[in-house]
Amino acid sequence: MTVVTDLDLPELDPADPDLRGDRWHVTANGLLDAGCWLAQGPLSLIVIDREAGEFFLRSRSAEFPGKLIGELFGITDGPLHEQIVANIINRGGDDHRRLRSLVNPALTPRAANSWRPVMRQILEELWSELESDQFDFVSRFSRPYPSRTIARVMGAPRVDAQRLHEWSEWIQRQFDPIALSDADVVAEIQHKVGEFYDWVDPLIEERRSQPADDLITTLIRTEEEGERLSDQELRNLVLNILVGGVDTTQSQLSHAIRLLAGAPEQWQALRENPDEMVPLAVSEVLRFEPVTAFTARQLTAEVSFRDVTFPAGTLLLVCSFTGNRDPEAFTDPQTFEIRTERGKTRPLTFGAGIHYCVGANLARAELEEGLRFFAGQIDSIELNGLTELQAVSGIYGIDRMDLRITRAVE
Ligand code: HEM
Repeated sequence: MTVVTDLDLPELDPADPDLRGDRWHVTANGLLDAGCWLAQGPLSLIVIDREAGEFFLRSRSAEFPGKLIGELFGITDGPLHEQIVANIINRGGDDHRRLRSLVNPALTPRAANSWRPVMRQILEELWSELESDQFDFVSRFSRPYPSRTIARVMGAPRVDAQRLHEWSEWIQRQFDPIALSDADVVAEIQHKVGEFYDWVDPLIEERRSQPADDLITTLIRTEEEGERLSDQELRNLVLNILVGGVDTTQSQLSHAIRLLAGAPEQWQALRENPDEMVPLAVSEVLRFEPVTAFTARQLTAEVSFRDVTFPAGTLLLVCSFTGNRDPEAFTDPQTFEIRTERGKTRPLTFGAGIHYCVGANLARAELEEGLRFFAGQIDSIELNGLTELQAVSGIYGIDRMDLRITRAVE
């Protein structure tokens, strides 16, 4: 049996700020072409292939290293510490099972579908505010749409959508070691978590006396049916849903439009038959350009896989981008093509195993409603100059994307 540290592995630095766009594709595909299943990064190993990625994501001897990141950066008290300890992604075993069983009913496919009329209404509002056929898609649609949706799903007043967006962006940075190495950033995240708690606690109180048609009420009801969600668990679950659900969906929608702008025939196919093509397009965008390109694990015990020993404590980043290009799982995986039958394998974009994205149904519904809406309104889309891609580490987002569209004739 070989120990992983004895392997001669190709190098990849996932935190390289230039890793984005074509350079990201060329670099990651280069590892696939060379037949690697593991690469070496500065702080961790990177798992390249799908089967190995699933193995580590599903392993009982692996956990998300959120608490470790907190310890490394000296976050030992304050609201951010409470959030790290309570975060569902940092829990395991029975504790995690209980939290999932309490939150799952609020995010089933049926529950997610029930929000589709709200999503359509938000898209219509944003569309009606558009005064020109040349605009930045990110500020006009990708950014406000998921935060207004999540505000409504949570039962927050609409005027608070912008604040929710800001909290989500800041608090998300608890997973970014580069951001955490700046003490001012840590102080600001502490402050933002505190602000969020001050905002959400009275809302939870209000929903206890005045139930409404929203996620907070559903979580309170589940609690009242005999399960034990403490006030602290409740406010942190709501925060996890906010942080997990805004930046991700926003970034994936931007990439969807970017990819479809570059594939006019596919856009027309989608417009001609949205009932069939919209769900396929969403699946293909999630597979081809996952905004969660890496997800992290730390081994809690020694693990063996493919005759290689991985010592306890090993840090791993599972790469969904390369995992989603497994030719045994997906036909013609290097091509972005919404009209190809891809088979039944789930891409790694939402993870795998116990932490599989709890918001996947809501995210899909949001993306589907977005594409369906634009397919009805827009005849052709072109990128119009500036597309500012973020780096692929963290959530692979887009800061700005200028479009020129022609409207569909009514
Ligand atoms: C395109 C959109 C989205 C993507 C690509 C995405 C991706 C992911 C991934 C990869 C994980 C697993 C992380 C891991 O195992 O290390 C995850 C977990 C999670 N996601 Fe999402 N997500 C999206 C949307 C959402 C939405 C809309 C919500 C909230 C409604 C959400 C809430 C969460 C939560 C709370 C977890 C932790 C689950 C657990 O620990 O059991 N996500 N997501």
